[in-house]
Amino acid sequence: MVWYMFPASRARRLRSSSAVRGLVRETELDVRDLVCPMFVNESLNAPREISSMPGVSALPLSHVGREAEAVSGLGIPAVLLFGVPRVKDARGSGAWDEQGVTQKAIREIKASSDVLVIADLCLCEYTDHGHCGVLRDGAVDNDSTLELYGLTAISQAEAGADMIAPSGMMDGQVAMIREALDDAGFENVPIMSYAAKYASAFYGPFREAAESAPRSGDRRTHQMDPANAKEALREMRLDVAEGADILMVKPALPYLDIIREARREFDLPIAAYNVSGEYSMLKAAAANGWIDHDRAMMEALGSIKRAGADIIITYFAKEAAALLEGER
Ligand code: PBG
Repeated sequence: MVWYMFPASRARRLRSSSAVRGLVRETELDVRDLVCPMFVNESLNAPREISSMPGVSALPLSHVGREAEAVSGLGIPAVLLFGVPRVKDARGSGAWDEQGVTQKAIREIKASSDVLVIADLCLCEYTDHGHCGVLRDGAVDNDSTLELYGLTAISQAEAGADMIAPSGMMDGQVAMIREALDDAGFENVPIMSYAAKYASAFYGPFREAAESAPRSGDRRTHQMDPANAKEALREMRLDVAEGADILMVKPALPYLDIIREARREFDLPIAAYNVSGEYSMLKAAAANGWIDHDRAMMEALGSIKRAGADIIITYFAKEAAALLEGER
């Protein structure tokens, strides 16, 4: 197509002014796509900043209502809630305790704001060994863990959770949770499945915040090998079959190719989790004056959207929301 060659064709024509660039812009971040993670820790009396995540604090129960109002005031539609109990045990029984920290936090948030509460569902914050399920002979036992996930889902829904997000990467977890929710009358509570969750080094800072680092071993027997892409599609296909409503890819930035493939392959909404290490890296570089914080943040979040994510879970949610508001 000779017509499109230089000098007839000049790509710079459509970059000549801010107005023209705006007209031809292909993707736009929207505050309505953002989800803000929230940590509530039963042992705290005051917010405690997570040292490796400047700007992010674990909150005491007394502060979650206020925080939810702040999030919702910025136009962010949802929080992703992680609870850290005072007492942990081998089975993680605090996870399905009606008076557990997560259940109390859900009730508190629902009473003080209209923000959606997405409850993360895993046992690693609740077990004294830090693994995502119950151990048998030193390994996480899949099927006995599933039952506990079912109990936890019901108790989170009873407390008022709007959505359940299972992050433990047990086989069959979506089917089990769907069935448990349906049997308990929560057939309208959606499941956002951590469908393709990788065994990533980028979760490091989160584990400090959630006190969820495994005491021994790692999570490579259930989380995915970072080298695999076809397997991610297989995991997602299984979760679709089991009844997932939203598919998540996690982490986001090192896995943009997976987000893109998920977008092409499935017609369910795709969520991407811009995880703790992705946040910390950018914060650290910006604190050193090595990159422009706001521009790098918006470029990173924009790339996740461009790759195909409909929903972006990010510790930058509040800062990005404020910036988007300022642009309008
Ligand atoms: C497990 C869970 C983890 C994250 C979210 N849910 C940690 C893990 O798998 O070890 C990581 C989130 C982040 O790094 O921001 N409950």
